[in-house]
Amino acid sequence: MEAKNIRNFSIIAHIDHGKSTLADRILELTGTIEKRKMQEQILDQMELERERGITIKMQPVRMNYQLSAISYQLNLIDTPGHIDFSYEVSRALKAVEGAVLLVDATQGVQAQTISNVEMAKSMGLTVIPVLNKMDLPSANAEESREEIKRLLEGEGAEEIKIMEISAKTGQGVKELLEEIIARVPPPKYEYKDRPRALIFDFEYSNHQGVIVYARIMDGKIKKGDELILSQTKEKFIVGEVGIFSPQKKSCDELSAGEIGYIVTNVKKPSIAAVGDTLVSPTNPLPPLPGYCKPKPVVWASVYPDSQNDFNNLRQALERLRLSDSSLAFEEETSGALGRGFRCGFLGMLHLEIITERLRREFNLNIIIAAPTISYKILFTDGTEKEIYSPTFFPDENRIKKIFEPWVDMEIMSPPEKLGPVMQLLHEHEAEVGEMKQFGNHRTILNVKMPLRELMRGFFDELKSATAGYASLNYKINEMREAPVGGILKMEVLVAEEPVPAFARIVSKKRVQKEAEETVEKLKNILPRTLFSIKIQAKAMGKILASRSLTAMKKNVTAHLYGGDITRKMKLREKQKRGKKRMKEMGKVNIPQEVFVKMVQK
Ligand code: GTP
Repeated sequence: MEAKNIRNFSIIAHIDHGKSTLADRILELTGTIEKRKMQEQILDQMELERERGITIKMQPVRMNYQLSAISYQLNLIDTPGHIDFSYEVSRALKAVEGAVLLVDATQGVQAQTISNVEMAKSMGLTVIPVLNKMDLPSANAEESREEIKRLLEGEGAEEIKIMEISAKTGQGVKELLEEIIARVPPPKYEYKDRPRALIFDFEYSNHQGVIVYARIMDGKIKKGDELILSQTKEKFIVGEVGIFSPQKKSCDELSAGEIGYIVTNVKKPSIAAVGDTLVSPTNPLPPLPGYCKPKPVVWASVYPDSQNDFNNLRQALERLRLSDSSLAFEEETSGALGRGFRCGFLGMLHLEIITERLRREFNLNIIIAAPTISYKILFTDGTEKEIYSPTFFPDENRIKKIFEPWVDMEIMSPPEKLGPVMQLLHEHEAEVGEMKQFGNHRTILNVKMPLRELMRGFFDELKSATAGYASLNYKINEMREAPVGGILKMEVLVAEEPVPAFARIVSKKRVQKEAEETVEKLKNILPRTLFSIKIQAKAMGKILASRSLTAMKKNVTAHLYGGDITRKMKLREKQKRGKKRMKEMGKVNIPQEVFVKMVQK
């Protein structure tokens, strides 16, 4: 289709403000999916997404809409709302010209809304502000309107129309669609005949190899064309091109401005990278600016329950990385758990989702060690190393300097909740910076905090301290020096044996509390055995906390009745010897669910 009749857009919003619901209504209205076939939140295809009701992976879709006798092609890229996935949002936004900014009128502008708008503005997109959930009596249009205006200030916000809709009932959605056609600019291109496309995502099929999801920036692409990937220099003949409706549907060609998929038939997952450019090998156009690859901030070791599954786990991680390039992993061996992988994630939710997908989609039984973050360590011998596994965390006397990641955070809170928020910030070692009013009922705080403190349940605590009214957004900003000895390794011993998977890096201020809590928790979840087991936490060469798990009494003489006391005594003696032997072997079988429970809150 001619570019002038194409509109490419995304929906950006804070989590739960109604993106997926709006996408459903748009799909219905454009007849892309018949109403009776409509399942709620059709774009959230992943089982996990449906269950949790959140969008994890964006899913592009093409729709057609007739307006004033002109047929328009609308390409929508749905985006996730959670902070851990803002990388996905930035990928989606590079492929479109406009963004619908959806704000829940009962909640108003939230921290995530602000960061998404900034991202959209920095990419030069047309932003269409929309108030959602107008069907609810608690919707406060007037106030939310003021907040949106402030957010878009300097954009000529006075003249900007703020639409009002209910994604649930469909009220106002038709008008919104027509507003999108009127205001989002059609895609521009420079060359009509020379192809160039931006890869914003890809998947792997055993049958068709790498399938890239692309926004065609210039020229046309059709089956049989020869193309090359600018970064990896891999050439291939296009096996098929098609669109998302939302299922993949082949078509004759994709032309400038369109969004679709391209089958490469290359059976090497490593050839494609998000952000790479596809061009023709003869007289190629220069590559487009790509994406910055996000750096993982949370690390955790993942081990197969059975070592026989090691290769399956590797394959599963490789497959997941294909659709989620922010996932990092490298091989690692642990004495207790065997071979596994050190995996890097964008945040705790990301970690949870990936491990859950490994279990469900790949049927793998896995063990996950306590998550950690990266520290930079300057050793006394002059060497420098990034450490993100407690196993390699050195003793204090080998450390010259230590640096840890800090985040820059924006917290939005109702002013009357500032007291508890401040208290919480203090407990989490935060530095509070600028504070400003946003509208009548919101305060924005600029805060800096060590990442380790953010990971220590800060988000949940903030939510409960403000009855759910505060929201936050953060980015990893800098590595800051921490006092040597201020951050240390805490080991956990079970039956006097250190269990590497339970070791963790903690701040000295909290080590005593962590030691007590860990030992107590482990005592409560470790199943009892035939002999009593000591559970201890150790740091700085000292045992900081210790508890005993008492033995489970097995009555070995129960089946004997009557008076043969010598037989009973013999059996008890035998049991005692057996217990002693087991104890000497130091073999305590720690079931997998104990490991899992230890990482969960
Ligand atoms: P993520 O995909 O997790 O980022 O969330 P989302 O922004 O897609 O939100 P979603 O569409 O899942 O909606 C969140 C909740 O709000 C769901 O329970 C919806 O049913 C509800 N909801 C969405 N739009 C409306 C609306 O216009 N009115 C009412 N009453 N509820 C709505």
